[in-house]
Amino acid sequence: MKGIVVFDTSHGNTKIIAETISETLKESGIAVDTFYVKDVKKLSAKDYAFLVLGSPTKFGTMSLTVKGFLGKVKSKEWANKPFAAFDTELRTNIERRESSAGEKIAEKLKENQMNQLLPVLKAAVLGWKGPLQEGEIERAREYARELAVKLKKGQ
Ligand SMILES: Cc1cc2nc3c(=O)[nH]c(=O)nc-3n(C[C@H](O)[C@H](O)[C@H](O)COP(=O)(O)O)c2cc1C
Repeated sequence: MKGIVVFDTSHGNTKIIAETISETLKESGIAVDTFYVKDVKKLSAKDYAFLVLGSPTKFGTMSLTVKGFLGKVKSKEWANKPFAAFDTELRTNIERRESSAGEKIAEKLKENQMNQLLPVLKAAVLGWKGPLQEGEIERAREYARELAVKLKKGQ
């Protein structure tokens, strides 16, 4: 089983979360390829058993690049495959439960009949350029460990 972790980033915070998830999945025995979203030239569902997709929250939703990437996730090919979505957003956005990139990604992938394995991981940044709030990298590790368990169970 091999999955693909795809992320967008402007200032590097979402990249840190993506790489933490990828490394932890690998440590848990799950193979993944990790891509900056602009480097995904062609996406074939035949190559991957699951998708983990993350974006910085911009104006309450995903970045335009991630929106474009979702156009490559063809519903017929990806239907029933597992996914997880994550984002970075301002801590105040999380506290006020305002809409976020990860939620919008999850909505779209569920429309494609994909199977959401875990609630969206929302990692808090303290300002637009970061840094990540203390503890968020560890939370991403825990999230990926849980994800690995679910993937192994085939849920
Ligand atoms: C144009 C723009 C719009 C943004 N809109 C929001 C927003 O609506 N809600 C929010 O919580 N953060 C917002 N942010 C802050 C981003 O979420 C933050 O810059 C991002 O998490 C940093 O991730 P990165 O380092 O991977 O680029 C915005 C940032 C930019 C540049």
